[in-house]
Amino acid sequence: MRRMKSFMALLLPIALAALFPARPILAGQESSIDIYRKIKPPEQYGSVVMNKGISGEKGLRPVVFPHWPHRVGYSCKACHTDLGFKLRANTTEIKQSDIEAGRYCGRCHDGKTAFGANECERCHSYGLPTPTDKKMEALLKGLPKDDFGNRVDWALALKEGKISPVASLDGNGKLKALDSDIVMPATRYSPHPPDVMFPHGAHTAQMACDTCHPSIFKDEKGGNPDMNMMKIISGQYCGVCHGRVAFPLEDCFRCHSQPQKNEPAKKGKETGPKK
Ligand code: HEC
Ligand code: HEC
Ligand code: HEC
Ligand code: HEC
Ligand code: HEC
Ligand code: HEC
Repeated sequence: MRRMKSFMALLLPIALAALFPARPILAGQESSIDIYRKIKPPEQYGSVVMNKGISGEKGLRPVVFPHWPHRVGYSCKACHTDLGFKLRANTTEIKQSDIEAGRYCGRCHDGKTAFGANECERCHSYGLPTPTDKKMEALLKGLPKDDFGNRVDWALALKEGKISPVASLDGNGKLKALDSDIVMPATRYSPHPPDVMFPHGAHTAQMACDTCHPSIFKDEKGGNPDMNMMKIISGQYCGVCHGRVAFPLEDCFRCHSQPQKNEPAKKGKETGPKK
């Protein structure tokens, strides 16, 4: 009994820590569970809170980086390949001195291309009402609509030339889309959803091959046999981008888009409701 008690005493803080993880965000804000459960409003979809090098004590707010105002003008390649931003929130090592020296955000936020590094609260804006959010509708007017994410069909916007994000900041190095669609059968379980079609074109029109190969996918048809929906939901494979910046996973049939082939009718018990 005594041992049990001391065991519990040991376990309790661990259990509590797991339930209420040390918040990387400022105190007095919502819990991370609240944030997780919410469907993000369109203007916040794809926004990244960056607070790797910021501790609350300095009185400095975490940085909120919104993808949508940037996607309009710059390809993923311009930032993620050329400027060295990593593809996961809070993994890029950035100092304010880097920004002032023209690296990372400072490459554009120099007071000419975009507002300057001296306007602290326009970047360090976590918890503040952001004027950009209110401007979203006006700024994205005319782009094809979608029901998910930012409520913009970014792939169509690019295809129709409604946006023309630059391939790189110096104007060199054009992106050439690779015209190759790969059908991925989703037949592991039965019944199964329609097969998935991965279009190289929509992806390579805005990102370099090495964004995906080999770090996310082996470049071989059927070369990623461990890929499944749970792993995608947890942020691997397609889930590196879909659900974070590209359209979210709720949009099942945009990926599971292949016409369902008629499965041979199964003999034996009917499982569905009788008509
Ligand atoms: C103007 C620069 C810029 C552009 C353009 C850009 N990104 Fe990002 N992206 C960032 C920054 C900055 C981060 C945060 C990195 C960090 O916190 O370490 C980020 C993070 C991400 C993440 C991780 C998000 C998360 O919640 O973990 C993904 C995925 C991503 N970007 C995908 C894309 C895709 C896809 C495109 C093109 C459609 C794109 N980005 C265009 C700058 C950019
Ligand atoms: C490739 C160029 C580029 C990079 C890199 C870049 N930005 Fe921007 N950013 C822009 C442009 C252009 C705008 C829109 C023009 C403006 O508002 O001045 C913009 C707009 C913004 C806005 C919305 C402005 C507002 O208040 O209306 C925020 C916030 C922002 N950037 C933060 C960041 C942060 C944080 C980083 C680095 C993590 C970053 N940006 C990196 C070019 C860039
Ligand atoms: C263009 C966007 C932008 C602007 C404007 C900006 N910052 Fe930052 N700042 C960042 C980003 C991005 C980081 C890195 C965040 C991270 O990964 O934790 C950062 C990190 C910091 C850090 C912690 C890292 C370090 O170098 O110690 C301090 C302190 C800081 N900023 C202060 C300021 C001050 C003060 C201002 C205004 C004079 C300012 N920032 C303006 C984007 C910006
Ligand atoms: C958004 C991620 C992504 C990008 C960017 C990307 N690929 Fe792929 N690629 C995939 C996926 C997913 C597969 C399918 C793998 C599988 O079937 O398991 C694939 C498969 C391939 C294959 C094997 C399929 C076949 O037809 O033999 C080749 C070759 C390939 N990619 C080349 C490229 C090249 C070249 C580029 C740049 C122009 C590129 N990829 C950019 C995700 C990507
Ligand atoms: C590196 C980031 C990234 C990865 C990984 C990724 N995608 Fe995408 N995908 C995008 C972006 C960005 C778009 C453009 C649309 C958007 O932003 O919502 C897109 C668009 C699409 C489209 C819509 C094409 C159209 O023309 O409407 C499909 C379908 C798609 N992706 C399927 C997949 C599948 C399936 C996987 C995994 C096998 C995958 N993607 C992996 C970033 C990614
Ligand atoms: C971004 C693209 C994408 C979206 C969106 C998506 N899936 Fe998937 N799904 C995949 C890929 C890729 C596989 C793996 C196919 C394979 O076996 O290689 C898969 C596999 C599956 C499987 C087969 C079992 C397994 O785990 O492999 C099921 C069931 C499934 N998805 C259900 C869903 C449902 C339900 C939704 C919507 C809530 C959804 N998917 C949205 C890409 C997507």
